[in-house]
Amino acid sequence: MNTTKSSNMGMKKSRMPARLDYFQSGSGLILGLFMWGHMLMVSSILVSKDFMYSVTKFFEGSFLFEGGAPILVSGFAFFIFVVFIVHAFLGMRKLPANYKQYKVIKETSSTLNHEDTKLWFIQAFTGFAMFFLGSIHIYIIMTNPDQIGPYASADRIWSGWMWPLFILLLLAVEFHGTIGLYRLCVKWGWFDGEDPRKTRKTLKKVKNYLTWFFLILGFTTLGAYMKIGYDHRHNVGERYVPSTAMVYQIDKVEVA
Ligand code: HEM
Repeated sequence: MNTTKSSNMGMKKSRMPARLDYFQSGSGLILGLFMWGHMLMVSSILVSKDFMYSVTKFFEGSFLFEGGAPILVSGFAFFIFVVFIVHAFLGMRKLPANYKQYKVIKETSSTLNHEDTKLWFIQAFTGFAMFFLGSIHIYIIMTNPDQIGPYASADRIWSGWMWPLFILLLLAVEFHGTIGLYRLCVKWGWFDGEDPRKTRKTLKKVKNYLTWFFLILGFTTLGAYMKIGYDHRHNVGERYVPSTAMVYQIDKVEVA
């Protein structure tokens, strides 16, 4: 007698995996879009220290609360942390459970030379790395929301030795983020036109351009913070005073 249960014996197929897939795609989309915005905000240092200072104050809600409320940054970082953990947890389902499974996937990947399988490997590897690297960064930001700014961030990066971590995190984030968004478009057929193969080719091209764009922007930005941090290494802890405030202070001294 066949004791194995099958779907035609009345066993319902679980909808859970599909539902979890939705959550994984949704959380990935939030994180991918967040990272693009995040990189643009962090790179404000390339315009000027004053501009980065204004962006920081804006996210502290300085337009609502006098001087800004860093707790808002903590709240937002907490939300991103939760999405990040949920996404990583759901992603773990897709990792090979043991070395044997890993070898099968690896062999299939190289014999078929299937690029999308290779992208999957990059996703698994960078995702694993980000679990550690990203958690450290988000936790520091969440618990030190008032320590963000042209000098505070640069000091953390240079004198606080965060730059080696950021080199690795930047590489992982930029590959993981753009590949992830590309895979979302393919998986859910968001831009599929008449010819999905052609669309896939175009999407791949866009993905590559975006990866290069954010890698160049990211490393230029990191270099700028490292330089500011290096120049500021003897004054660690001193906070940046924007030039408009300085003029105001000088005016006040002159008037007094
Ligand atoms: C709300 C959450 C977050 C906030 C407020 C935030 C804020 C910042 C700030 C202010 C910096 C400049 C350096 C510093 O002050 O330490 C930075 C750099 C960086 N962050 Fe985040 N971050 C957040 C989440 C994330 C996440 C989720 C990731 C990726 C897992 C990430 C990846 C990076 C990377 C790679 C850099 C270096 C960028 C560069 O120098 O080009 N951040 N972040």
